[in-house]
Amino acid sequence: MIAHSSQKFAAMSLFLASMLFLLLVSRPGYAQSKAVAATPPMGWNSWNHFAEKVNDAVIRAQADAMVSSGMRDAGYVYVNIDDTWEAGRDAQGVIHANSKFPDMKALADYVHSKGLKIGIYSSPGPKTCAGFAGSYGHEDQDAATYAAWGIDYLKYDLCDFREIMKHADSPAAANKMMVDAYITMRDALRKTGRPIVYSFCQYGDDAVWRWAASAGGNLWRTTGDINDTYPRMAAIGFGQAGLAKFAGPSHWNDPDMLEIGNGGMNLDEYRTHMSLWALLAAPLLAGNDLSAMSPETVALLTNKEVLAIDQDSAGKQGGRFSAEGPMEIWVRTLADSSKAVGLFNRHSGPMDLQVDFRELGFKGAVKARDVWNAKDLGSMQAIYKVQVPAHGVVLLRVTE
Ligand code: GLA
Repeated sequence: MIAHSSQKFAAMSLFLASMLFLLLVSRPGYAQSKAVAATPPMGWNSWNHFAEKVNDAVIRAQADAMVSSGMRDAGYVYVNIDDTWEAGRDAQGVIHANSKFPDMKALADYVHSKGLKIGIYSSPGPKTCAGFAGSYGHEDQDAATYAAWGIDYLKYDLCDFREIMKHADSPAAANKMMVDAYITMRDALRKTGRPIVYSFCQYGDDAVWRWAASAGGNLWRTTGDINDTYPRMAAIGFGQAGLAKFAGPSHWNDPDMLEIGNGGMNLDEYRTHMSLWALLAAPLLAGNDLSAMSPETVALLTNKEVLAIDQDSAGKQGGRFSAEGPMEIWVRTLADSSKAVGLFNRHSGPMDLQVDFRELGFKGAVKARDVWNAKDLGSMQAIYKVQVPAHGVVLLRVTE
């Protein structure tokens, strides 16, 4: 009898221990045992401006400029090397950087010495999108190499893994291969014990927002690549409606990196870009050359009130409240119960927009502030009317 109950006790303890283990390893939103990306990651990535021209000197210059421009103090932290750094593997299978990056550990030390963090890029496939060596079959080794270099962020880009997925005998089997590939790298990163932000890049396929957090993603691209044009930026940004419920602290929707400062859009269009990304609680990875910024670009990237919306501690992504032809209103609820409200004009000429604060849930008079113009609009009742420039936005912060 005693033997029987102690066996039962042992079995029960084993069961509880395994449940606890499962709970710990499957906790969504954490690539690592330690939480990272409590607010959407902020930093810079090499791809949009430099593409294959990235090298050690570029990264050092971007780190220097992130500090001297005031971006670091505004909250930008990650300096991320995208594709084309990879040389290939040695006889032991260890990945090495090519001649553009003579000493990755020294580079990481340099970036860290500036009070910043450093990111890198790979693919679950044998090849990256630019045709360089991916991590396929070497995930543990690569994660260990990144940790030894001092890497703090990994963008993991599906690319060539899609060729492998073609061998699956059904879409469901192909999806499982992809999810498993992301989980394999998640586990490899966890084994290093180093907190590393884990960024999925697979262009939003298979409703990635539904499964990425439980596969360890701290952020996941919801779309194909952005470029520095209003039509592409707007198609991506305004196309994010409906995804809000999938995001939150340590697990964010990623509508791709910023193009601000690359020169393809005008001031109103870049304000739309920045405002939408802030309302979307999007990661803010600048994609321009930080070492050659105009004051206007610095102001766009470092506007404190806009960044406060993006980085709001509640981590509640906003969404589309209404659309009437090219006039859209997007709203995000913030931790202090105020609301960020974007009045967007997608038309190619100015339009008169209006918002009825009662419809947004405000009962009495509200206090509104025009964020980009840093102007208190005072106390107002019900309806606010304003002319919004072509492709532009009026971004408000509204309090009861
Ligand atoms: C894909 C990604 C881009 C970039 C390139 C690099 O296109 O979506 O963001 O990383 O690969 O080759």
